Amino acid sequence: MDIRFLAHSAVELIDGDTRILVDPFISGNPKAAVSPDELEPTHILLTHGHADHYGDVVDIAKRTGAPVLAIAEIATELGELGVENVFDPNLGGTVQFDWGWVKLVPAWHTSTTPNGTVSTPAGLLIMVGERLVYHVGDTCLFSDLKLIAQRGNHVNVALVPIGGHYTMDRFDAVTACEWIGADEVIPIHYDTFPPIETDAQAFKTDVENATESKVVVLAPGETHTVR
Ligand code: NI
Ligand code: MN
Repeated sequence: MDIRFLAHSAVELIDGDTRILVDPFISGNPKAAVSPDELEPTHILLTHGHADHYGDVVDIAKRTGAPVLAIAEIATELGELGVENVFDPNLGGTVQFDWGWVKLVPAWHTSTTPNGTVSTPAGLLIMVGERLVYHVGDTCLFSDLKLIAQRGNHVNVALVPIGGHYTMDRFDAVTACEWIGADEVIPIHYDTFPPIETDAQAFKTDVENATESKVVVLAPGETHTVR
């Protein structure tokens, strides 16, 4: 499975013909490595409704016909906006796909879409083939990160926000990585805007000193192959 970092919290998980696009904030993203028209996802997932995650979801879903999975209130909004194929789980819910499954788990944050829909933010456990990816979403440090990551399947790759200001910072994120215990960690949600500038290489050093996890720092547009 390949993980393509598109900048901020936007990633593509690519496994054979499956292309799972998460949090497609591309237009208006100063670090975006692609244009929204270049993306051809088979599925789209949202962690929450903020503009820097919701992004181009409506346009991409309508153009490609890709189904969108988002928490119930956001899924309802997307349906009202003309997205034909939506999945609307809530926290704790798992949706099965032919390539694996997605489970919505808590994140401590807020969430209002650009259209005003208020909902609860989430993290995403994404099982693709034999690999479990934990997209932590936007959150502060909270102790249930340990519960979420350490019961059930082992987390192979964790996508962890490190930018601070809107989420946990790179220091709290080290503790999060200790609790998640993933094989690999990819830092996200940093350097996009001035308030969330941080030192990803220092985060890598700190995590690799404190844990068994290996940190993979990706530039926007870079792809990492998960073995
Ligand atoms: Ni947010
Ligand atoms: Mn955000």
